[in-house]
Formats: sequence, structure tokens, C-alpha cells
Amino acid sequence: REGTVLVTGGAGYIGSHAVLALLDAGWKVVVIDNLTTGFAWAVDPRATLVTGNIEDEALVRGTMRDHGVVAVMHFAGSIVVPESVSDPLKYYRNNTVASRSLIESAVVSGVRHFIFSSTAATYGMPEVVPVREDMPKLPINPYGTSKLMTELMLADVAFAHPFNYCALRYFNVAGADPKGRTGQSTAGATHLIKIAVEAATGKRDHVTVFGTDYATADGTGVRDYIHVSDLADAHVKALDLLIAEPGKSHTLNCGYGHGYSVLEVLDAVDRVTNLKIERRMAERRPGDAGELVADNGAILATLPWRPQRDDLDTIVQDALAWERKLTERRG
Ligand code: UFG
Repeated sequence: REGTVLVTGGAGYIGSHAVLALLDAGWKVVVIDNLTTGFAWAVDPRATLVTGNIEDEALVRGTMRDHGVVAVMHFAGSIVVPESVSDPLKYYRNNTVASRSLIESAVVSGVRHFIFSSTAATYGMPEVVPVREDMPKLPINPYGTSKLMTELMLADVAFAHPFNYCALRYFNVAGADPKGRTGQSTAGATHLIKIAVEAATGKRDHVTVFGTDYATADGTGVRDYIHVSDLADAHVKALDLLIAEPGKSHTLNCGYGHGYSVLEVLDAVDRVTNLKIERRMAERRPGDAGELVADNGAILATLPWRPQRDDLDTIVQDALAWERKLTERRG
């Protein structure tokens, strides 16, 4: 593989897995990360880490030039849905405005391929599940809107310039590198599987179940949990396609196409750990959909991507193994 891939947010959870997948596939990698939520140690030493902001045009363009960057994978951004409701301008700055600057730097620097971390939050509360890419995009929070706006910019830029992109709409990303090289490390977790493995390693004494009266089989929320290594692999395959077919861009759901309820996830954690983690039933969390599952027909038809770790217990085992490592590291 010729040239270098610029990974923004490569010191973060999903970005650090993508860095590994790119390096393992033979790419050279340069990371730009401002380390506000990421960690320098999470970046594999085979990659170069540049500490800074993606809106810093001199830094980004200099990095693109000096490293011979041929493609961007853009993970950097803010991702906490409730925070986006209380501080929307932070999300429009960090996700939309910063992306605009990064895309412009790519166009000006002659970087022709762009992979964007989008989200199932662009759909809002879908009326039909599993949800397909062409179904209505009606985000119900600024996080989803900030990501959708970037998708729209990319479409216009790809029309105007010699540039193609793949927007990957992630469903619920979980697990950790099966070889234990990186995982989800940022404090203040809100995601279910991370919270459950924190409880399993003694960092919490219970897990709260938000909502027991949804129109789902057991009344709790259903999500499509995708293993982070499978997701990282989808990025590498998407990049190969963008290079092979320069005139074409894509928007693809990243999920397994089936969901698990909160109680099923907690059962899996109990099974894997041989514990009985306390569950406390509570009210719905504002803004939560009952069921969010991907129609993954498009990604399966477009990329030579096949899930390797589509198994809830495997996802939980990998998340747990990483959580135990973090516990040792932090003492
Ligand atoms: N949940 C609990 N207890 C918890 C945490 C979560 O019951 O302590 C439930 C939620 O109510 C939901 C499910 O577990 O039913 C999953 O919740 P997460 O917080 O793990 O993830 P979300 O589905 O809310 O959010 C994910 C991504 C977002 C993205 C969204 C798309 O993390 O970035 O999907 O709708 F925007």
C-alpha cells in the first residue's frame, strides 16, 4: 500500500483500533489528536503521533505534505449525546466546523479519499427497524445533527472536487482489540457494555437499566452491538474501495443486523464473569430509542467485509479483558 493515512482521533477508542488495523494491513499512519479524551500510549508506536487540533490548518496541511498523506480517516470529535443537548455549540464546533476545516485541508492538499465516522444517531427515532441508509435522517439531538451536517458537506465536496468519501454510520460499538493492545479507556463512561464491565471489575456496585417499558420483547432497549475490531476492519476495506473506484462515494451502516436488549447484555456479562451484577430498574433515559438495529445489506454488498466477532459473549469477553488491564495499569 502506497502512502500514508492520516487518522484524526487516533488516540481515542475507535481511532486507536483503526490505527492498528491500518498498520496490520501494511499502511503507514500519522495520527493527529489533541489528547483531550485520547491517550498518547493508545497510539501504536509504529504510527507517528502529532499532538494538535484538526482546525489548525498549518499543522494539518504541513502533516499532509510531510507524510505524503493519501487518505484521511476522521474519528476526532465529541460523542456524548446528553452533553450535546446541554452544550450544542461545542458539538457544532468540534464535529461540524472542525470537520469543515479538515475537509478543506484535504481538498487543498490534494488528498482525495476521506472516511468519516458517522452515527446511527443521524436517524433519530427510526419508524422502521432494521434501519436502511436511505430512510429518513431526523436526528433528535445536536450530536446526530452535527454528524449529519458533515455528511452533507462531504456529499457536496465530492461533487465539486476530485474527492470521494465513505461515511460509516456506527451502531453501538463495543469490545476491545482481541490482542489486548488497546480498548475503551476514557473515564466517565456512559455506554452500557463499558459500564457493565466496570461493575464486573469492582468500579461500580450496580448497573442502572434505563427503561423497562419499551415495545421490545423484555421491555428494555435493544441495540445492535458491533465489535470495535470488525468496525476498524470495515474502515480499511472502505479505504481500498475508495482508491479502487475514485468516482464513487458511499454511506454505509456499520452493524451486525441484529440486536440485544439491555437485560440480554447484562446476562452475557454475568455469564462471562460468573458474577451476578446488581441491576436497578429505572425510568427511560431522555432521547433513547426503543430499538435501533442496522440493516447491513449495503455494507455486505459493497465491501468484502464479513464480521469476525459477531457474538455478544466475545464482545463482552474482549471488553472485560481490556477493563482488567486498565485496572492493573491504574492500580
Ligand atoms: N443503558 C442502560 N444503562 C446504562 C447505559 C445504557 O440501561 O447505564 C441502555 C440505554 O438506555 C440503551 C442501551 O443501554 O437502551 C445502549 O445505551 P448506550 O448508552 O450504550 O448507547 P446508545 O444506544 O445510547 O448510543 C449509541 C452511541 C451514540 C449514538 C447512538 C445512536 O453511543 O454515540 O448509539 O443512537 F449516537
